[in-house]
Amino acid sequence: MNAGFIGIGRYTPDKIVTNADLEKVMDTSDEWIRTRTGIEERRIADDSIDTSDMAFFAAEKALEDAGISAEQLDMILVATVTPDQPFPSVACMLQERLGAKKAAAMDISAACAGFMYGVVTAKQFIETGAFTNVLVVGVEKLSKVTDWNDRNTAVLFGDGAGAAVIGPVSEGKGILSFELGADGSGGKHLYQDEFIIMNGREVFKFAVRQMGESSLNVLEKAGLSKEDVDFLIPHQANIRIMEASRERLELPVEKMSKTVHKYGNTSAASIPISLVEEVEAGKIKDDDLIVMVGFGGGLTWGAIAVRWGR
Ligand code: UT7
Repeated sequence: MNAGFIGIGRYTPDKIVTNADLEKVMDTSDEWIRTRTGIEERRIADDSIDTSDMAFFAAEKALEDAGISAEQLDMILVATVTPDQPFPSVACMLQERLGAKKAAAMDISAACAGFMYGVVTAKQFIETGAFTNVLVVGVEKLSKVTDWNDRNTAVLFGDGAGAAVIGPVSEGKGILSFELGADGSGGKHLYQDEFIIMNGREVFKFAVRQMGESSLNVLEKAGLSKEDVDFLIPHQANIRIMEASRERLELPVEKMSKTVHKYGNTSAASIPISLVEEVEAGKIKDDDLIVMVGFGGGLTWGAIAVRWGR
């Protein structure tokens, strides 16, 4: 039994905050943000919308796309570092709101690599035959842990959610290989105290190295090579980090997903949001080989190679 993506959905808040808006409230410039990060604007959820709301909106779409009802879910995994509260989990809130009566539910804390951790966890339950449908959501309301007086971090992040139903797919399709990893010794470079605190340069170096290596590792594990890749979906943290991964795989610009200019870094939500946008734009087709790769605070990383289609 192979596990793959059987339905996807996303939600991004309506409110757009541009670099020009940030110029008015902090010592920064559109020029600096664009050239150092590739970000032009980000979405910020208003006070009435919390993490579980965004998760719910994205999840509803993924269920609709999968053509299944919430009662058919066996498990809900929510990757987030910005839950509504420490407990109950966002996954349990979602279970109730969706009416997913038979689903087990838990949150996953792996920062920006969280969606990769969730998808790979779902794959294990499906391929052992224990579960049939697992909902995985990557969601963050980073605006509530952003220090709007710290220009080093405030310009980078945004809010949003992406969701996928992982379930059985036909032979040859689905998640072919994966890599998950962690290095707690690097935790000091990116963490939350009251707000997000980051040593940008250290995270940058780690990200460039790890994104390239993990992408190549999942290809090798699947018995494939760089030439086989049709599309790369890297975590959308910084265009310079993303470009380094693309170059490592020797892919042309049009074969890499880029949504960072519109949404900034949405942490666990960035890969599924990008996935939905690329599928909707017709850039990902049946039988395409997709590499998804993320890294984040922890430090954590994760990657998968996927043969697209059900
Ligand atoms: O999901 C994982 C989350 N984290 C990341 O992915 C972060 C990875 N790191 C990065 O993306 C980059 O390191 C940053 C975008 C955060 C910073 O870029 P950088 O090229 O590493 O810049 P820097 O930290 O070396 O700073 C260069 C200068 C500094 O000024 P001085 O000390 O050289 O005078 C900063 O104070 O840029 C200054 N600076 C800013 N200037 C205008 C830092 N932030 C800003 C800003 N606007 N927003």
